Amino acid sequence: FSTGSLTGRTLLITAGPTREAIDPVRYLSNHSSGKMGFALAEAAVEAGARVILVSGPVNLATPAHVERLDVVSAQQMAAAVDSRIGEADIFIATAAVADYRPRQVPAEKIKKDQPQLTLELEKNPDILAGVKQQHPGVFCVGFAAETTDLERYARAKLDDKRLEMVVANLVGSATPETEGTFGSETNVLQVFWPGGETHLPLAPKGQLARQLIPVIVSRYEQRDMT
Ligand code: PMT
Repeated sequence: FSTGSLTGRTLLITAGPTREAIDPVRYLSNHSSGKMGFALAEAAVEAGARVILVSGPVNLATPAHVERLDVVSAQQMAAAVDSRIGEADIFIATAAVADYRPRQVPAEKIKKDQPQLTLELEKNPDILAGVKQQHPGVFCVGFAAETTDLERYARAKLDDKRLEMVVANLVGSATPETEGTFGSETNVLQVFWPGGETHLPLAPKGQLARQLIPVIVSRYEQRDMT
């Protein structure tokens, strides 16, 4: 691997959380900070790629030479990805996309006059699965955030969505080392592809991104030979 190994390639990367409106002032979301996805965007630029970064609401500066599209909801993220995926050679889905959104969003703030409130949720589009179905030629790297059984769930995602690679990380406080993967400066990654895997031990997300990009490049270069 050397800087420039992605020269001439376009990467589309999703990052951060999505927010799903409950009413005009409230939303459902998660603890993703966008750091992992932004670090990957930066590392991909360093490797020579043109990078389009579709980001949910985060407090991060755009890495140099990265084209950033800001979105809020999963449906907006899906539309932004859809509008640019035609340019991409590689798609990396780092975003923590909300799986469900409130079915109905009232125009006015919900009043707290009821002892209980039931929210009906409906499924959001699976952006990564949609990309793979509609653009099978795009090299797709999914992320898997799990609280347990990392390898089993990651391999299931690899097979179910027919991805080229799944990058798995434990989230929650399963072990002291993984506590705070969401939002923290560090992470531990377990990378799976059909017939292989590699482990990237605890390190700052920037360093992990610089280690992960060459793994992706290596598999990408072998994609038609397996
Ligand atoms: O942002 P940070 O604070 O740095 O934290 C990084 C991270 C923990 C968010 C990141 O490393 C990570 O694991 N991202 C994926 C989180 C996730 O939601 O995983 P999942 O198992 O729910 O989704 C699996 C894959 O499908 C992911 O690639 C996800 O982007 C994609 N997906 C999921 C749902 C959906 N509707 N559309 C999708 O594209």
